[in-house]
Amino acid sequence: MYKKYFPYFKNSKNIYLDTAATAQKPSIVLDAINEYYTQYCSNTHRSNFGDANRATTEFEHTRELLKNCIKAKESKEIIFTKGVTESLNLVASSFVKDRFDTVIISSLEHHSNIVPWHMQERSLHKGLEVVNCDEDLTFDMEHFENLLIQNPNSFVSITHVSNAFGKLHPLKNIIQTAHKYGALVMIDGAQSLPHFNIDMQDIEADFYTISGHKTYGPTGVGALYVKAKHLEKLRPYQTGGATIKDVSYDKTVLLDSPFKFEAGTQNIAGIIGFGKAIEFLQNIEYKNIINYENEIYEYLYEKLGEIKDVIFYTDSINSIGSLSFNIKGLMAEDLGILLDKMKISIRTGHHCAQPIMKKLGINGTARVSLAIYNDKNDIDIFIKGLKRAIKILKD
Ligand code: ALA
Repeated sequence: MYKKYFPYFKNSKNIYLDTAATAQKPSIVLDAINEYYTQYCSNTHRSNFGDANRATTEFEHTRELLKNCIKAKESKEIIFTKGVTESLNLVASSFVKDRFDTVIISSLEHHSNIVPWHMQERSLHKGLEVVNCDEDLTFDMEHFENLLIQNPNSFVSITHVSNAFGKLHPLKNIIQTAHKYGALVMIDGAQSLPHFNIDMQDIEADFYTISGHKTYGPTGVGALYVKAKHLEKLRPYQTGGATIKDVSYDKTVLLDSPFKFEAGTQNIAGIIGFGKAIEFLQNIEYKNIINYENEIYEYLYEKLGEIKDVIFYTDSINSIGSLSFNIKGLMAEDLGILLDKMKISIRTGHHCAQPIMKKLGINGTARVSLAIYNDKNDIDIFIKGLKRAIKILKD
């Protein structure tokens, strides 16, 4: 139903089931990028001629759209970055380092929410604590609360939706519990905004990281939401043009947020395109996205469940977007290679989440990730292909 908005599907016969890695882009995004480069390509926030002013206006329009979309209170709370990885690294190195004794993460984190802590020389039980999960990957609230009690000066950094398994964490409960013990919370929101709306006033996260390219926008753009009261303590980790109020040979006075965090020429076309992706989602409306994606996710879960020897890692109720599985006795990679030959694109392997794979005692999984442009026909073709691949590998 929504495929028609995405030029990729006019040019490719692939059944695309890898949106958790990156989403396809609707025409409205691609047209906006083309329009910027062909009609008013200029730098932002600097020159004062017509095209440059238009570029600045469009760029700042994306900030307003994003602010309204996630219900941030002020524009200065939205900082553009290259994406979730940069946002997480920025907070880790410029806010958390040397301020907190302990960082608490979940068992389901992507490497980008583990490695920045290792770079600070934190490892398990040495400044880094990991909340247990049970067999179906459910977050262990009791263990979390104990960790908060045992580690009074903690910073919590948790994914909203697991990229590897699609498991949804009970975010409000996590944030409220952390705040009860005086801990601040950062959320890896890479897999959220493409699938459901988020409301900063409701969840009360201190930091929330957003991906542009997983939200139907261009690669190389994303954002960091920082609750206004933390902005003064967040130090820019790089400086340069466009961050400056005044410079002499003796000292520098930086602009206020968000500009002091956006050094150098930004990915202007990308950010303008990201704004169009947000408009695209708003035109469809999140309630329609949620209903539609739930329906196709349930269908996928049901059809996969009919396959002999399938192993699931989560239930379907508390999962969103991605579904990870294995077939007993087979390597996920082999399934992926055979499906690719049938023009069906899924991701196999550890999905940049090696620690949880090790904990589960597996090398990886086959992951199907859905978006609004997928339909039941895609799932039928995938299931047929999967059955064929299993037969080839087992015979
Ligand atoms: N983090 C992306 C994924 O899960 C790339 O595939």
